[in-house]
Amino acid sequence: MDFQLTEEQLTVQQAARDFAQNELLPGVIERDTHQQFPAAQIKKMGELGFMGMMTDPKYNGGGMDTLSYVLAMEEISKVDASASVCMSVNNSLVAWGIEKYGNEDQKQRFLTKLATGEKIGAFCLSEPEAGSDATSQQTTAEDKGDYYLLNGTKNWITNGNSAGIYIVIAQTDASKKHKGINALIVEKGMPGFVVGKKEDKMGIRGSDTHSLMFTDVKVPKANRIGEDGFGFSFAMTTLNGGRIGIAAQALGIASGAFELALKYSKERKAFGKPISQHQAIQFKLAEMATQIEAARFLVWQAAWLKDQKKDFVKAAAMAKLYASQIAQEVTTEAVQIHGGYGYVKEFHVERLMRDAKITQIYEGTTEIQKMVISRELLR
Ligand code: CAA
Repeated sequence: MDFQLTEEQLTVQQAARDFAQNELLPGVIERDTHQQFPAAQIKKMGELGFMGMMTDPKYNGGGMDTLSYVLAMEEISKVDASASVCMSVNNSLVAWGIEKYGNEDQKQRFLTKLATGEKIGAFCLSEPEAGSDATSQQTTAEDKGDYYLLNGTKNWITNGNSAGIYIVIAQTDASKKHKGINALIVEKGMPGFVVGKKEDKMGIRGSDTHSLMFTDVKVPKANRIGEDGFGFSFAMTTLNGGRIGIAAQALGIASGAFELALKYSKERKAFGKPISQHQAIQFKLAEMATQIEAARFLVWQAAWLKDQKKDFVKAAAMAKLYASQIAQEVTTEAVQIHGGYGYVKEFHVERLMRDAKITQIYEGTTEIQKMVISRELLR
């Protein structure tokens, strides 16, 4: 594994860093407070190529590798994890899923728009009673010949209102269990599709998380991804890759908090000297930096394995497991280093601490990552 970044990767990293500092940082506290989706910023991210980074240029994408994508994800997440989760779901779940498993017609109709950010994607798997237990889908897609009749409710859907293109996982034949599930592409505006309640969340408050309701929605067969019954396998394999993006998000949240704490520790004086000169703070900084480096190696390794077309499932789950754990610890320590200032919004670290928690929940909880890792170890 060569960790020497190429000129192109360094350029992408710098572009994401500049964008985050110049376009996302102003207003991030207000968006968090008022739960505002960063619509204008996401539009710009699309124009700059951040919404379809790995997509083939023939479908309007950037044709970049996964490592470039995680570099950009880390930089955006340092500043605004609400923007980065939108970017992650669009890139690695929806665009990647359609590019890998969709047919040419679906790529022309949907992928070309997702890759430019003209339309945003949402990945709809979770249900009121099927979060971790993804095989227990209650949403049904009844086969009616040339269309499916979609009925059910999805919960906690990232980009729930802002999206235009939704991949919905639904049960067609319950007797076949997970082999009777399909992945259907649903467009906003289809009769019977209603965007429901917006969740009032602890963190990533700028991200729009909604429930979705489907009542007798007629979804053309042409919108089914893959063969009949491929939906569960589609969801699992897509999530395997998606976890690299969320691991990079957790890494970014941790490194963003660390950078703020490091800077603050050099500026803030106590007992006659900058607090960075106190061993109690130095030990914290050393521990945080080591955790971040270890997480970064895991994230880069998972991205590298995927780029090399090697088996990356275990590596991706390990990266997400570890990066999300250290994001909790590093952001908590960043608040501690800031003292009372860390507990107020103005200094950003309290937001990063709240944002960090979701990385242990979505795209598979900590416990699910351990199941995936042990499944691979015992196979
Ligand atoms: N990759 C590929 N295939 C997998 C897989 C993986 N990681 N894990 C399981 N499968 C396949 C198995 O091979 C099996 O297929 P076959 O029968 O064809 O061999 C099938 O799935 C069923 O396997 P299991 O019996 O082991 O499945 P299970 O019911 O025990 O569940 C699980 C496995 C790993 C727990 C899975 O249900 C899972 O990943 N759950 C978590 C789902 C999740 O991440 N939800 C988050 C919602 S998405 C989101 O958060 C997006 C967002 O908005 C940010």
